[in-house]
Amino acid sequence: MEKGQKTINIAIDGPAGAGKSTLSKMLASQLGYIYVDTGALYRTVGLYALRKGVNPKDAEKVSQLLKEIRIEIKFISGTQHVFLNDEDVSNLIRTPEVSMAASAVSAIPNVRSFLLDLQKDIAAKNNIIMDGRDIGTVILPNAQIKIFLTASPEIRAKRRFDELIAKGQNVDYQSVLNDIKKRDEADSGREIAPLKPAKDAIIVDTTEYNLEQSLELLIKIVKERLK
Ligand code: DC
Repeated sequence: MEKGQKTINIAIDGPAGAGKSTLSKMLASQLGYIYVDTGALYRTVGLYALRKGVNPKDAEKVSQLLKEIRIEIKFISGTQHVFLNDEDVSNLIRTPEVSMAASAVSAIPNVRSFLLDLQKDIAAKNNIIMDGRDIGTVILPNAQIKIFLTASPEIRAKRRFDELIAKGQNVDYQSVLNDIKKRDEADSGREIAPLKPAKDAIIVDTTEYNLEQSLELLIKIVKERLK
C-alpha cells in the first residue's frame, strides 16, 4: 500500500455461526484483500484468562491480566495467525470453552479498548475485509461497505456443529445451539459495543442460502458499491 493512499475497508458483522469467517475469507481471496478475523483477538484474551484460572466475567481481574498480554496478528501465506506473547494460539482458540470465555471478556470495556488500535491500524494500512460484532458501528465507522450477516439460530448452530465435527471435536448439536443462543444474548445485550447492524449496513440473511449463493450475493453487493 502506498503511504497516504486510502485503503478500502469492508466490515462484516453478525452473530456467531452466520458464516462471516468462511464468506469473508472467500470474498477476500476474490478481491485480493486481507481477511481480518477480530473474534480471534477476544478469543486470545479469553484463552489467557482460562489459562490463568481467572473468571472471564471478572472485569477487574481480566483487566489486570491485560498488562501481561501482548497480542500480534501475522499473515502467513495469506492466512491470519494470532500470537499470544509469541506463541501461535490460532488453533487453540477454536474450542467451545474459549468461545464462551471470548464472549464474556468481550463485554469488558478495558478489553475492547486494549484491542482497538490493533484493529484500526491494520485497516488503515491494508485493503481489508474485517469480521466481528462492532466493526461497522465502532471500529470502522467509515468503512466503504458494511454488511450485517445473519441467519436463524438453528441453521447457525448446524453449521457450527458440522464445522467442529469436521475438526474432530466431540460436541453435540443441542449444546452448540444452546451456546449460540447464550452468546447471541450476551453479545447483543451488553452495554458496550453491542452486536447490532450499523445504520448504513446492508442486512444479508443467509438462512435460505447455501455457501455459493451467499457468496454470489456478497460479490454482487461489493461490485455495485465499489463501482
Ligand atoms: O466471531 P467469534 O465467534 O470468533 O467471536 C468470539 C466472541 O468475541 C463473540 O462471542 C463476541 C466477541 N467479539 C466481539 O465482541 N467483537 C468482535 N469484533 C468480535 C468478537
